[in-house]
Amino acid sequence: MTKTKVLMVCLGNICRSPLAEGILQSKVNTDKVMVDSAGTAGYHIGHLPDERSIAVAKKNGLDITNQRCRQFRMEDFDIFDHIYVMDQSNFQNVLKLARTTTHQSKVKLILNESFPGKNMEVPDPYYDGDKGFDRVYNMLDHACTIVADKL
Ligand code: 4NP
Repeated sequence: MTKTKVLMVCLGNICRSPLAEGILQSKVNTDKVMVDSAGTAGYHIGHLPDERSIAVAKKNGLDITNQRCRQFRMEDFDIFDHIYVMDQSNFQNVLKLARTTTHQSKVKLILNESFPGKNMEVPDPYYDGDKGFDRVYNMLDHACTIVADKL
C-alpha cells in the first residue's frame, strides 16, 4: 500500500517544521501516512531540532530528537502529496522550485487549515523566548488535528 506523504517546510528546519512533523506524526496512522520536514535554507543541515523545540515537544509528550535537519529540494515535489509551509516567505521559496502546476498545487500555508483563506503565518520563534515556542506549538497542534482528520 502506498502511504500518503506529507512534508512540513519552514526556513531553518530546526524550529517550526520539526514540531509540525512530530505533532502530525503523533496524530496519524503511520502505516498509512508518512510525515517528514525540511527547510528552504541550508544553515543547519544535519543538526538536531532547536533545543527549545525539543523542550516544548517533550513538555507535550513528544520526542523529536530522531529528526535531523535537511534542505527542501525539487525532488520533494515528486515524493510528497502535501507540502505545508509556515509563512509567505517559505511559500515563495518553495514555489520557485516548482516545475508544474501539479507541483504548485501541493503547496499550502498550514494555518489555512485552521483559518481557511486567511493566509495567516506561523511566526518564526527563532529569536523569541520559550513563550514563542509554546504559541507555535499550540498553533501547529490545532492545524495538525485538522490535517490528520482529512488524511
Ligand atoms: P525555523 O526557524 O524556520 O522555524 O526553523 C529558524 C531557524 C533558524 C534560522 C531562522 C529561522 N536561522 O536564521 O538560522
